[in-house]
Amino acid sequence: MANLNQNNEREQWGSKLGFILAASGSAVGLGNLVKFPAVAGKNGGGAFVLVYFIILFLVGFTLMLAEIVLGRHTKLNAIGAYRKIRKNWAWVGGLGVLAGFMILSYYSVIGGWVINYLLKSLTGALKTSDAEVINQMFGSLVTGTVEPIVYHGIFMLATMIIVIGGIGGGIEKSSKILMPGLFIMIILIALRSMTLPGGVEGIKYLLVPDFSKLSIGVVLDALGQVFFSLSLGMGCMITYGSYLGEDTNIPQSATIIPLIDTGVALLAGLAVLPAVFAYNLDPNAGMGIIFKAFPAIFAQLPFGNFFSFIFFLLVLFAALSSSISLLEVCVSYVVDEWKMNRKAAVTLLGLIIFVIGSIASLSYGPWGHIKFVAGLNFFDSLDFISANYLLPLGGLLLCIFVGWVWGTDNAIKEATNGGKLTFSLASLWVILIKYVGPVAITIVFIRSLI
Ligand code: TRP
Repeated sequence: MANLNQNNEREQWGSKLGFILAASGSAVGLGNLVKFPAVAGKNGGGAFVLVYFIILFLVGFTLMLAEIVLGRHTKLNAIGAYRKIRKNWAWVGGLGVLAGFMILSYYSVIGGWVINYLLKSLTGALKTSDAEVINQMFGSLVTGTVEPIVYHGIFMLATMIIVIGGIGGGIEKSSKILMPGLFIMIILIALRSMTLPGGVEGIKYLLVPDFSKLSIGVVLDALGQVFFSLSLGMGCMITYGSYLGEDTNIPQSATIIPLIDTGVALLAGLAVLPAVFAYNLDPNAGMGIIFKAFPAIFAQLPFGNFFSFIFFLLVLFAALSSSISLLEVCVSYVVDEWKMNRKAAVTLLGLIIFVIGSIASLSYGPWGHIKFVAGLNFFDSLDFISANYLLPLGGLLLCIFVGWVWGTDNAIKEATNGGKLTFSLASLWVILIKYVGPVAITIVFIRSLI
């Protein structure tokens, strides 16, 4: 993987595969494994998944290509990339930094829950299929005061250490083992879950759309989820794209990364929802849903403790390969703009994020009665504002920027490596980025605000 550390000479990804794995590493994370099953469960399953796919095809692939192309062309961070092409657009990158900051604050709290469950699998405490015990176990963790904050601190510290040390070598090499490992594990778990007695109901819930469940809220959640899951709308893929060599096939990469990401999300849904139905858990249980569904599945597997340990370890690595990309976007801004050294920038930002995250963590416990946006607690408000509004807004502005300001001719020239590659869907992409993307996002915004 490219060393994001140095400022003098820009390094490049070790290989084409290295970039795809690192970018997929950023995309595949708690958004797929925790949020996707949770949001799908909340929004009635199939209807949500259908809308998710529509938005993925109209906006997801389109913006993935746009971000990577912009990054490679400018070879700069999120803010610098906008500034280099049009000075007065730099604030759009700044909006992305803000979103990354907010997301990491609660992301790290969930990362902490994962570490706690990893340790729980060691003691065997997780092996139970009694719904009451399962609910109680998760509830007592997240409503705690000190415990979840300590785990959140450990997760944040791990993220900071990786980002300070530069992410060369280790992550690129390890993701070559971890990503396929995660894939195999989740397939195995999905198979077990789908064959549980009563599990079919969960498959139906996820895959058969019930159109009476459709509402503008579902569409807004799906839009936010596409951005969140693909790491789009805040310049993360601009940053990763900036470390690409001139010979990479960007249209191909921009197709593969969303496919991997969506594959993992669907598998996570197929792993979680059947178990939820088989054990009479609540599909609308929020972010806690995987922490409730998985113990029940592992209880039904031979060597359940072993599998549960390996699984939560893979979830943890998937979460870390995403959290570092979130922190990196903020750090590179502070390093570039405030001329701070990397170590100081990571320490400062890490501490602030730790404090905000701790407030988020408490909002599931003692501070749960304090409501912010739309009757949500602080944790869910951070998630709702950043994922559902800031990321799509960043995406809308990116569409306008690439489609109209920088221009699609320039973008296509970059995407085809100056005409050397064929990009067969180029004319479709132009329509999507200039018209369909901006109009679709604007309509969802306006409808959801009314
Ligand atoms: N995509 C990651 C996930 O699904 C989270 C993430 C990493 C992210 N970088 C991002 C989300 C940038 C939005 C923007 O877990």
